[in-house]
This record gives sequence, C-alpha cells and structure tokens, in this order.
Amino acid sequence: MQRKIGVIGGSGVYQIEGLEGAGWTAVETPWGAPSDQILTGRLAGIEMAFLPRHGRGHRHAPGDLPYRANIDALKRLGCTDVIAVSAVGSLREDFRPGDMVVVDQFIDRSTSREPSFFGSGCVAHVSLADPTCPALSAACATALRDTGAVVHVGGTALTIEGPQFSTRAESRLYRSWGCDVIGMTAMPEARLAREAELCYASVAMVTDYDCWHPDHGAVDVAAVIAVLSANAGVAKAMIAALPPILGTGRRPCPAGCDHALDHAVMTAPAQ
Ligand code: ADE
Repeated sequence: MQRKIGVIGGSGVYQIEGLEGAGWTAVETPWGAPSDQILTGRLAGIEMAFLPRHGRGHRHAPGDLPYRANIDALKRLGCTDVIAVSAVGSLREDFRPGDMVVVDQFIDRSTSREPSFFGSGCVAHVSLADPTCPALSAACATALRDTGAVVHVGGTALTIEGPQFSTRAESRLYRSWGCDVIGMTAMPEARLAREAELCYASVAMVTDYDCWHPDHGAVDVAAVIAVLSANAGVAKAMIAALPPILGTGRRPCPAGCDHALDHAVMTAPAQ
C-alpha cells in the first residue's frame, strides 16, 4: 500500500515548500468545509496533503475549527498518516521556548467541540489509551533530530478551550496533573484521527512558559509569534526530512491505528 501523509499546520505554519506538482484543492465533506483548501503534491516520491489548521491568514479560532471536516477531508484525499503540528506553552522548566515535543498523551479540557464522527444511530467506542501512533511519532522524532532542534520525545498535552490563555491557578493546576505542554487544538483532533483509522503524530513547538513560571511574565501573542518566527523553519525542515525515514510504501500499522474500528462499533447493522 502507498503511504500518503497529511500534515496539519498550526500557528505559524500555513504552507509547506518543495512539493512537486503542488496545487490547492477544495474538499467538501458531510461535516462541512475544512479550514481551508488542501495543498497536495509529492515530496521525494511521497504523496502529501497539507492543511493549514487555522486557514491561510489565520482566520479560524481554536474553538470554531471544523475539526471533523479537517480529518474527514484528509481521509477522503487518501491520507494514511497525519502529522499535526502546533504551538504550545510549556508547563515544565526543561521544555524551553524553541524546543520541539513529540507528544504522546492528551488531557482534554475543551468544552464546546464536536468530539466524534459517531453518535446516536451508529454508536462506536474506539480506544484512546495510546492516542498517537508510535511508529509515526518515532519517525517525526528522528526527522526533528536531523534538523538540529532540541527534541523531547513523549509528553502530555493539555487542551484548553481558549481563546484566552489560562489563569495562573489553572496553569499551576495543570502542572500538578503532570501535564507537560498546553495548547488549544490537539483535542478533539487526535480523537477524530483515531476514529478515522489514521496513524496520528503530534509535534509541538514550545513558544512560551504559559504563566506559571516565576521568572517569566504572562504569555502574550507577541511572544508566541516571536518564537514561531525565529523557529519557522524547524517544522518545515522536519517534513522535508521525513521521506527517506518513512519511505513511500506502507505496511499495516503495528499498533493497529489503521484498524481502530474493528471492535469499536456497538450498533447492530441495519436489517
Ligand atoms: N499556544 C501557545 N502557547 C500557549 C499557551 N501558553 N496556552 C495555550 N495555548 C498556547
């Protein structure tokens, strides 16, 4: 089977370069339109599909993103793997602004997002015990190291509803829960990728220390943009480094991401 990699670009990553035969495609889904058109093309022989999560020009707020349409559109285009790139705040001293984190766990504190493709009519319960794909995440970690970035492999990302940043009390609470980074978009994206039987990896760039750190001020957008601009090339360089690591062919996922629905559907088939 051929591999096709979907990349969801977060804040600061609104397109990728170097795609052969590149073109933006509009995709419609039963869940509405995705955040933007999708840039497709080939990178060193691998089919790619790139979606800017907030849209070009950063038009969609985290709470209003069409999460279901985004994942469904990538699935419809034939993606087998999805790499989600995002900007996050750090909840620990040793994850510094500019560092990259290959996240492998999530805690969801979002409050008003559609979290599932399923519901009444067709009930399904997928496992989210290990919400990211170990093989795809390991490939991202290798590609990130090739870029020379400081890389932390493994970490728990807390998703807040936003759009406001957290209070200091919340920031301290999330640290006490053992969370490593904080962002506004990882959930329900990771849930939906699992329901869509996609291998999903979450790559986060640390842009700030949120507001818990006694030696750093409260986070603001200017600080976030300054770090994103200074490190804009890292996510793109990671993507460029992936083809030789992943290869064009694809075997069944050893962790079973591509069979997540095999034992998940409860509803009896219609008679
Ligand atoms: N994205 C970047 N920094 C963040 C923070 N501190 N909280 C939530 N989302 C973020």
